[in-house]
Amino acid sequence: MDQQFIQRKEDHLQYSLSPESQTSLHSRWEHLDLIHDSLPDLDLADVSIHSAFLDYQIETPFFVPGMTAGHENATLINDRIAGMASERGWLMGVGSQRRELDSEYQDYALQKIASRFPKLKLISNLGLSQLIELHQQGEFAKLQALVENTGAAMIAIHLNPLQEAVQAEGTPNFRGGYEALKAWCDISPIPVIVKETGSGMSEATLQKLKNLNLFAVDVSGMGGTHWGRVEGLRAKKESASSRYGKTFGNWGISTVDSLRFAAKVFEGTQTEVWASGGMRTGLDAAKAIALGAKRVGFAQPVLAAALTSKVALSEWALQTEQELKIAMFCTNSANLSALNLQKLKGHW
Ligand SMILES: Cc1cc2nc3c(=O)[nH]c(=O)nc-3n(C[C@H](O)[C@H](O)[C@H](O)COP(=O)(O)O)c2cc1C
Repeated sequence: MDQQFIQRKEDHLQYSLSPESQTSLHSRWEHLDLIHDSLPDLDLADVSIHSAFLDYQIETPFFVPGMTAGHENATLINDRIAGMASERGWLMGVGSQRRELDSEYQDYALQKIASRFPKLKLISNLGLSQLIELHQQGEFAKLQALVENTGAAMIAIHLNPLQEAVQAEGTPNFRGGYEALKAWCDISPIPVIVKETGSGMSEATLQKLKNLNLFAVDVSGMGGTHWGRVEGLRAKKESASSRYGKTFGNWGISTVDSLRFAAKVFEGTQTEVWASGGMRTGLDAAKAIALGAKRVGFAQPVLAAALTSKVALSEWALQTEQELKIAMFCTNSANLSALNLQKLKGHW
């Protein structure tokens, strides 16, 4: 594997853990409150966070959004995340599988996760610019083979125009993206999700995606890890990328706004709305669910806990689930469908 690739993945890991890469000041969760009910007609133990997923019920409405693979630490991190996700009923996204499209990397450890954790539901991952390339070169068969080898239940195509534009070695080539997505959706062997990577989605973008009959859209909005910032931080000081990272450090649409748009655009359709981007607690998750999210993803906090230890990750996940349950208990919501807009107040 080339050194530049490994270094980039290690940099992403390091800088996404830095407070400077986070846009928490732009997360709008503090503008929303769930309405406290002092007289809930249930016990905390009655609260169920089970969620429907494809044809079955799983234990939580949570997922781990795709995070980078392809470097030394990745196997250990992915192993810990897979263990937690499989044990606790979380879906697990893998990081971009761009490298593994080449047969030389097909035997990569990531692809064996599915066989080691048979209960685990994995989500494959590829960037839109790579999907466009495959489409133009008539090479979708490579991606079909990859998702089959991964044993994934679904595939997420990620949209990251800002990151590609700020990154010195990025591939900001998105022309033909909609056509590539449409063509892939027509032949994909597994359901397709489109996700952002922390800059959110506008109503106009969501309207375009609506025509694709996707399984889900993960709005991944601003409020957490910001990829303009990460690329700016990892660039050489005084370089163009470093400057772009600062100029565009607050570029994007908050998860709250993106969710609001998505709930409206996808109302009455089969496409699920998922929320990630700055989700940090089970209370954030409760607010996102009340706003219409079917599933909630935590990237950076999972990474931070997984890097600490397997036990730290498991405890963090348990506490996050419990926070969601407490929010549901105190709003008299026995299950996820009872946690809806009527339980929210504030400005959104
Ligand atoms: C270290 C790291 C690597 C990431 N790599 C990918 C990736 O390969 N593909 C992808 O779709 N998103 C990737 N993401 C973006 C996340 O899936 C998520 O959309 C974003 O980080 C916002 O969530 P957060 O605020 O909880 O971190 C990565 C995030 C992190 C922290």
